[in-house]
Parts: sequence; C-alpha cells; structure tokens
Amino acid sequence: KKVVLAYSGGLDTTTIIPWLKENYDYDIIAVCVNVGQGVEELDKLEERALGSGAAKVFVVDVTEEFVTDYIWPTVKSGAIYESEYLLGTSMARPLISKVLVDIAIQEGAEAICHGATGKGNDQVRFELGIKALKPELKIIAPWRLWDIQSRQDAIDYCHSKGIFLPFSAEQSYSRDKNLWHISHEGLEIEDPSFEADYSKILKISSTVENAPDKAEYLTISFEQGVPTAIDGTAYSPVALMEKLNELGGKHAIGTIDLLENRVVGMKSRGIYETPGGTILYKAHEALEHLCLDRETYSFKLTAAQKFADIVYNGQWFSPLRESLSTFFDTTQETVTGDVKLKLYKGNIIMAGATSPYSLYNASLSSFETGELYSHKDAEGFINLYGLPMAVRAWMKKSNEK
Ligand code: ARG
Ligand code: SIN
Repeated sequence: KKVVLAYSGGLDTTTIIPWLKENYDYDIIAVCVNVGQGVEELDKLEERALGSGAAKVFVVDVTEEFVTDYIWPTVKSGAIYESEYLLGTSMARPLISKVLVDIAIQEGAEAICHGATGKGNDQVRFELGIKALKPELKIIAPWRLWDIQSRQDAIDYCHSKGIFLPFSAEQSYSRDKNLWHISHEGLEIEDPSFEADYSKILKISSTVENAPDKAEYLTISFEQGVPTAIDGTAYSPVALMEKLNELGGKHAIGTIDLLENRVVGMKSRGIYETPGGTILYKAHEALEHLCLDRETYSFKLTAAQKFADIVYNGQWFSPLRESLSTFFDTTQETVTGDVKLKLYKGNIIMAGATSPYSLYNASLSSFETGELYSHKDAEGFINLYGLPMAVRAWMKKSNEK
C-alpha cells in the first residue's frame, strides 16, 4: 500500500515521513511540485526525503503549466480577493493537487498526505482539488492529528526516530513562494496593530526606501489578454513572469499588507509580494479600458469578484470556475495591444496604451466637435433616461400637504 506525500523539503513535511511510518503501513512516495518556489537543492531534497524513510521521490516541474493554465486565466479575469490579494497561493494549490492525484494514479497509491495545518485555507484547497479529481483517495492531514506544535517538537520527534535534519528550531515566518508571489504570515505579523518591518520580511522586493530614485519605463504586449512580450521582445510564459518579478521587485511594486477572511472563519494577516503580477494586472486592466465596451466591462467586474472567491475557496476544479473562464476568454478576444508603464518607488504610472481593437474614437470623445455625434441627440436621451426621476419627484410632490 502506498501514500503520496506533498513534499516541500522543509522541516514540517520531512517530519511527516517518519510520522507516517509510525502510524500507517504505507510506502511513502514524496512528491515535490515545482511551481517556481525555487527548489534550489534538488539533490539534497531527494536525499532528505529518502534519508527520512520515503520509498521514492518525484520532483515535478509544472512551472509552465502553472503560468499558462492557472495564472493567465486569473489575469484575464482580473480577480482580486478582498480588494487586495492577487491569489498567488490560492491558484497554485489546485495544480499541486492535480499533480499529486496524477502520481497517485500512476503509482497505484490509495492515499494522499499534505502538510497544511487545520486552521488554514490550504487544507481546503488541496482536499477540494483531490475530491474533484479522484474522490476515492484517502486524505491524511497530520496537522489535524498529531501533537507536534512547534519546530522544536518536530526536531525532537525526528531525533527520536534517529533522523537528524539541517533545520534550526528558530521560528520563522510561514511563507509560500511561487512564480506569481510570495506570502509571509505568522510571528509578529499576527498582531494587526504592528507595523510590519519590510526590511526584515521581504524576499523578492525592495522596500520603497531602497528602490531606485530613477523611474523605469516598460511596454508590455498582450494577445487576447495574455502577455507575450516586454519592450518588443517575446518571452516564454515563465521567463516573462521572472522578468516582471525582477523589474517590479527592484521598484518595490506590489507589496501589500492584508488582514483577510479565511475560508475556515478566522481573520489572518499576511504580507504579500506580487511584483510582476501587480504590473500585469495594471497593464491588462489599462488595455481592457481601451478595448472593452461598457456593459461587458461592468459585468466582468462582477464576475471577477465571484471568480476571486471561488479561487480563494479552493473551487478551481468546478463548473462555475470553468464556465466563468470561458466567459472571460470570450471577453479577451480583442484585448490585444501594448501598454507602456513607468515604475517608480512602488508606483505604476500609466504612460500610454494602444490597440488595433481600441474602441476609443477620437472623433466621438474629443472635446472638439466631430461629425459622428450630434449634441442635439443628448437632449432627448436625457429626457427619457431621466423620466423615472421626474416621475418620482412628481409623485412625492402630490403626497405633500
Ligand atoms: N493567506 C494566503 C492564502 O490563503 C496565503 C497562504 C499561504 N500558505 C502557506 N502555506 N504559507 O492564499
Ligand atoms: C496553513 O495553515 O497551512 C497555511 C495557511 C493557510 O492555509 O491559510
């Protein structure tokens, strides 16, 4: 009998290996899913999993699929959770679930084990993903079962099993990194009254104070809502994200501090760095302002709100998410063009947008008179458009004494 373990290489998921051996009769298949977290020491990771008792280790690179099938649909949607969060962890979890399920099927495993805690969103996302793709799989969530509470407990437990790991007991922030973002939670961040010390927390971005004093321009090209080039040079999806993260990080773009509502009912505070993603959202939205008609744009905002909740809540593999994505794809057919931006000390400043599908009509919109628009028509339009307001005013008046 086999279990597939979602393995990050860190202390928690390594401790799960001897714990599974003690409590179950499974061969452990450790799976590290690379979504761009920077899996630097792959050899070491493999060695550590095997040295702790895993029977097999897989490292699966899905960075490209992550960008094209998870990030791009979210960019097209414009979804933002609770006004600020660009969903970096939320949209990676379903893909990780998918890889775990694929390997479980391939290896004939009967269970999947993950290291998310019993208090968070990630357990919900992993498990909804698994249920959507292969509901027969058993799920083991050690954090909901064991007594280990701290890093010291985990190290002590491993020692008792004769496993010695290169981790310190010192508590650090709970972080989650991928090609889209990095999140930071825990320790003093948990006190909402505390001003987060960015010089200590940030990993991929400068602080505003340390960002260059000189602004930098860039132009992003989109084809049907998907970014394809920077300054006229085509980039692969992964390379494009890396490039924008580097540029945005340098200019302190996209760092937020959010007290959010988790699915499981509590509030929690996170610091998020989404430098490249924040640039993309801004550029993409500017292009939509040029290319979408008023009704479509307005409905899209409403749909984006729903999309954000669905993704945050772990319902990526659901009919509603899929059909919303189909709607967004249709809206993106004309979202093609170039957006020029200026990056400066945490700010993204618009510097012009162009599109062959632009709906902006100078002859209509200009303050100078054009031929397409008759000022006279406005009078009749306003009379009818305002009729309900006039009717109500008359009604109120007739009820006055
Ligand atoms: N609060 C964010 C979310 O729910 C980030 C979660 C980060 N997860 C983690 N295991 N560190 O999407
Ligand atoms: C966790 O609790 O495992 C991380 C935070 C979250 O899932 O919201």
